[in-house]
Amino acid sequence: MKIAVMPGDGIGKEIIKQGIKVIKAISNKYKCDFEIKEALIGGAAIDETGSPLPDETIEVCKNSDAVLLGAVGGPKWDKLPGNLRPEAGLLGIRKTLGVFANLRPAILFPQLKSASNLKEEVLGNGLNIMIVRELIGGAYFGEKKRVDIKEGQKAWDTIVYSTPEIERIVKMAFQVARKRNKKLTLIDKANVLESSRLWREVTNKISEDYKDVELNYMYVDNAAMQLIRDPKQFDTIVTENMFGDILSDEASMLTGSLGMLPSASLGEGKVGMYEPIHGSAPDIAGCDKANPIGTIMSIAMMFRYSFNMEEAARDIENAVSKVLDKGYRTSDIMEQGKVSVGTEKMGELITQEIQ
Ligand code: IPM
Ligand code: MG
Repeated sequence: MKIAVMPGDGIGKEIIKQGIKVIKAISNKYKCDFEIKEALIGGAAIDETGSPLPDETIEVCKNSDAVLLGAVGGPKWDKLPGNLRPEAGLLGIRKTLGVFANLRPAILFPQLKSASNLKEEVLGNGLNIMIVRELIGGAYFGEKKRVDIKEGQKAWDTIVYSTPEIERIVKMAFQVARKRNKKLTLIDKANVLESSRLWREVTNKISEDYKDVELNYMYVDNAAMQLIRDPKQFDTIVTENMFGDILSDEASMLTGSLGMLPSASLGEGKVGMYEPIHGSAPDIAGCDKANPIGTIMSIAMMFRYSFNMEEAARDIENAVSKVLDKGYRTSDIMEQGKVSVGTEKMGELITQEIQ
């Protein structure tokens, strides 16, 4: 099995290094070989080749069974035009691989209850929300332009979705919801946006094939509020690209830290892509401070969805849980009375639990 690994920028390199230790531990335990190939993306690729997504990287990814990504972006490349920024590399590889469904589970480890910003009574005995974010459409990929006008400039981005694009992601979300608590919430802005109204129509129609799943609709502004007021009302959420980007960052804080959340990006093709939901955090890059758990949990998802190795996925998730049980914390989830550790040590502790 081949894994393409793209550390990218900022803390990407440090967290991916920990992830590779975990892959090696699983490889030893299950006596299976993984061929790991590194590829350049984002700012690192710009510095080396001039492009945020070199052809060679596309080749390596296409010829793999799964892709693992750290993070992209940083102040060094902020002044570049949009299509040459590090982020364009990330969007490009998502599009090229056709990974339209981005699964972002927001799970609160019971050990981290008090690291969450919410009161214990709001959290109850845990939180488990699955956000299914559309990943290769909407404002991220619609027509965007900037033109000169008398008074200055004018710029626009367009949210575009077609029926088939909505159908495939909504079907996937219903299937995900069916395996969970059979409750799906479509989050949109159908009171204002035409694209949202199409999402509702299509979703409503598809729901006829999933009568066992309870479906409800919610406007995105209300949803942002409800996530904080009463997150337990949500089970599976499906939403368009930009709303999913925003709401998943919000949901991550309910679980204690942005550094905890993994994601899996899946499509019709054979290659799945796995990445933590956080960014490159240039302010702490190279300081051994980043939390590698989002990456390590993404690797668990990789074993689950790309390699059909459920047991290995659980091993990884249990290893994380055990290390938290023992009281080890990176600085983002540090609390009084716990043991503060850096990126490297956290990776090592988790790896040791996989034997
Ligand atoms: C994410 C990130 C990316 C996105 C950025 C880095 C382009 O925020 O994966 O959530 O907006 O999709
Ligand atoms: Mg984001």
